[in-house]
Amino acid sequence: MADKFFITTPIYYVNDEPHIGHAYTSIIADVLSRYHRLFGDRVFFLTGTDEHGQKVAEAAAKAGRTPQEHCDLMVQRFQAAWDKLEISHDDFIRTTEPRHTTRVQEILQKLWDAGEIYESTYEGWYCVPDERFWTEKDLVDGNCPLCGREVRRLAEKNYFFRMGRYQEWLLDHIQSHPRFILPESRRNEILGFLAKPLGDLCISRPKERLSWGVPLPFAPDFVTYVWFDALLNYVTAPESRGGGWWPASLHLIGKDILTTHSVYWPTMLKAAGLELPETILGHGWWLYDDMKMSKSLGNVVKPLDLADKYGVDAFRFFVAREMSLGLDASFSEAALVNRYNSELANDLGNLYSRILKLLHTYNEGKIPQAGDNPNAIPNDVFEGKEPDYYGNLWEGIKRDIRQFELNTVLNKIMQFVRLINRHMEQAAPWKSGKTDPEGAVRFLRSSLEELAAAAWMLWPVMPGKMGELLGALGLKAQDYHSPAEVLKALPEGHLLPEKAALFPRVKLEAPAPAEPPPPPPPETPVIAYEDFQKVQLRVARILTAEPVQGADKLLRLEVDLGSERRQIVAGIAQHYRPEELPGRSIIVVANLQPAKIRGVESRGMLLAAQGEGGKLVLLTPDGEAPPGAKIS
Ligand code: MSP
Repeated sequence: MADKFFITTPIYYVNDEPHIGHAYTSIIADVLSRYHRLFGDRVFFLTGTDEHGQKVAEAAAKAGRTPQEHCDLMVQRFQAAWDKLEISHDDFIRTTEPRHTTRVQEILQKLWDAGEIYESTYEGWYCVPDERFWTEKDLVDGNCPLCGREVRRLAEKNYFFRMGRYQEWLLDHIQSHPRFILPESRRNEILGFLAKPLGDLCISRPKERLSWGVPLPFAPDFVTYVWFDALLNYVTAPESRGGGWWPASLHLIGKDILTTHSVYWPTMLKAAGLELPETILGHGWWLYDDMKMSKSLGNVVKPLDLADKYGVDAFRFFVAREMSLGLDASFSEAALVNRYNSELANDLGNLYSRILKLLHTYNEGKIPQAGDNPNAIPNDVFEGKEPDYYGNLWEGIKRDIRQFELNTVLNKIMQFVRLINRHMEQAAPWKSGKTDPEGAVRFLRSSLEELAAAAWMLWPVMPGKMGELLGALGLKAQDYHSPAEVLKALPEGHLLPEKAALFPRVKLEAPAPAEPPPPPPPETPVIAYEDFQKVQLRVARILTAEPVQGADKLLRLEVDLGSERRQIVAGIAQHYRPEELPGRSIIVVANLQPAKIRGVESRGMLLAAQGEGGKLVLLTPDGEAPPGAKIS
C-alpha cells in the first residue's frame, strides 16, 4: 500500500500581503509534496488563511467593510499568488468556513464537557485605547508600553485550557520521538521552554472587546482565542474531506511560530483525544542582505515581482537551493542571478540546446533508438564506481527528502547535470559525428536519457520549465516513479523542437549609485586608563524585548544584571526582531546616567558593532558568563 504523506503550511494571516516568507514555506511544502507524489505516495497538501482576530476586524472597519467581506477580498491575493507560483495544494482552508467553525465548536464543547476548559479570572493592566492587557513587568513607568497612556487594573472573566497538566507528558513525548520537532536546535529550544513550569492557556476573549472570532459554544458572550481556532485547521480540513488523513506527516512552519505548534498544539490534541503529528519542522528566516526584512526599511522581498522578472521556476529553484534546513538565509538578487546564470542557463539550458542542435544535425531532429542497454550510464563518466548510478542517486534523493534536506537534493542533481556536460565535452559528438555519425547519434541518445532523468528529478522544484522540457521529449513527469522508468519511456522517432530557450541568460540591473563615502572620522581622542576604569561593563541577559511605540528604531529591553533587573532602550529595532532576543547574553554599560529616550527610561546602554552594510550586531560573551559578570 502506498505511504500516506499529509503536509501542511501555516495558515497565513489574511490581512498580510504575500511576501517571500510566506512564499518560501509554500514553495518548500509544494516541492516536498511533488517529490512524494513521484515516489508514488498518497499525498494531501493543505494550506489556507487565518481570518479571525482583532487586526482583521480593525482593518475591515477602516476599509468600511464587514470583516467577512474584507476576508473574502483579501484571501484572493494569497490564492492568486499560489496559482502563479504553481503551488499544487489539495485544499485551501479558510477559518471562516463553516466546515471549520462548526468543528472548532464541537471540539471546544468536548473539552469543556471533559473539564479540560474552566472558567476563571484573567487579571492584568488594561490599556483602554489600545484594548490590550499587560502584565506588571510590561509597564513602563506604570503606563502602557505601547502608547504611554494610563492603564487600569482590570479583572475579566475568561476561559482557560488546562495546558499545564500536560507538561510532563509532552516532555516525555518530545524526548522519546526524536523526529517530532526538527531540526535539533528547535527541539532543544522547546525542551528549554518546557524546563520552566507550563501554565494554562487563556483561550477566550469577551465579545464586548472582540467579536470577530468563533463563539464559545458554552459561553456565547466569548469568542475563541485566534491561535486556538487557527491550529485546529489542521484537523478540520482533512476531516471535512474524509480519507483518514489525520495525523499530519509534517507541519512545515517558520521558527517564529514554534511554541504555538510544539506546545499548544500537541497538548490541545492530547486533551481532545486526537493523534499527534509526526514532525514539526521549523525553518529559518529569510533576511535581506543579512538584515531583517521590514516594511519600514523598505526591503521586503515581493515574490511575485521576482517571479515576473526571472520566471517562477528560477525563483522556486533559488529559494529551495539556498536555504539549509533550519538556518536563516540571506536573500540577495545578485545571488539569484548568479545561480540562475551558472546552473540554469549554463549547465542545464545549454546542455538541452546543444543536444537538440546535434540531433537536428545528425538524426533529423528525432529521438534516436534506444541502445542495447538503455539504463546503462557509461561508467567512464561516473568514475566507474557505481554500477547502478541512477538507482543510487534516486535512493539518496529519497532519503534526503525524508530528512527534508532539499538543498542537498538539488546539489546532487546539479552535480549530475555537470557530469553529463563533462561527458559531452569528452566525447565531443560535434567532432566525432563528422566521421562516425552513427556513433554520435548513439551517444546523443544516452545524453538525452541523462538529461531526461535530470529534468524529471528537478520537476518537483521547477514544474513549469521541466514539464516543458519533458513534454518536448514526449514525456509527462507524473507518469513515472524512477529515473530508470523515464529513460525507458523516451519515444524513439519523436520529433524534437529545433531550439529551446528555457533559461535565457539574465543581467543584474545596475544597483543605484553608491552613496558618497562618509567623511573621515575625527581624530579619536585618547583617554587615560583611569577614565576607562570608570566605565562599568557587565554581562546581561535579555528577558523581554518590545518595540517602542512611535519609534521605528527602538526596542525596549528588560535585562537581568545578576543582582537586579533593568530596562534599557536600544536602537536596534531595524536589526533584530523582538522575539529573537530573549535569552541572549549581551554586554552593557551598567553605570551610564539614566536617560529618557522617546519618553521611555533607559538605564544603561548595550554594546553593538557596525557590521557589513550598516547592520548592527550585538556584542556577546564568547562562552558562559552569568548575568552581572564584570568585564575587565
Ligand atoms: N497565522 C499564523 C499561523 C497560524 S498556523 C495555525 C501566522 N501567519 S503569518 O502569515 O504571519 O506567517 C506565516 C509563515 O510565514 C510563518 O511560518 C512565518 O515563519 C513565515 N515567515 C514570515 N516571514 C518570514 C521570513 N522573512 N522568512 C521566512 N519565513 C517567514 O503566523
